[in-house]
Amino acid sequence: MSDGGSADTPAAGWIRVASTAQLASGEVMAIEAAGRPMVLVRDGDRWFALQRKCVHQGADLSDGIVSRGFLICPQHAWKFRIDTGAHEISPETCLVTYATRIEGTDVYVDPTPRRPQPDLSWLPIPPKETP
Ligand code: FES
Repeated sequence: MSDGGSADTPAAGWIRVASTAQLASGEVMAIEAAGRPMVLVRDGDRWFALQRKCVHQGADLSDGIVSRGFLICPQHAWKFRIDTGAHEISPETCLVTYATRIEGTDVYVDPTPRRPQPDLSWLPIPPKETP
């Protein structure tokens, strides 16, 4: 990844939160960076950090399940995309996401919340009206 900093030293703001050996693909774990509770999710070689508290009723998403690109809440099974935090059906309902980077075997998170990017590609584009 190349989100800033050299290959040896991450840029300021990046916080080491885990070792790559701590999480297998498809797993989720609780982490904290700069006092923000988060979950770290691994999907193959891709790593994601999202807010830990579910936006529905506050369940702990570190107890959730990762499946097919979604983090599934353990309480009522709402599904959130692991890459954008967007809810499966209502993408305007989003978890906050955070940037991640890998340096060697260390996993870093930038605790600055990223604006969620809801996927609205499923919405049909209405036909244009002709005058
Ligand atoms: S608390 Fe997460 S879906 Fe209800």
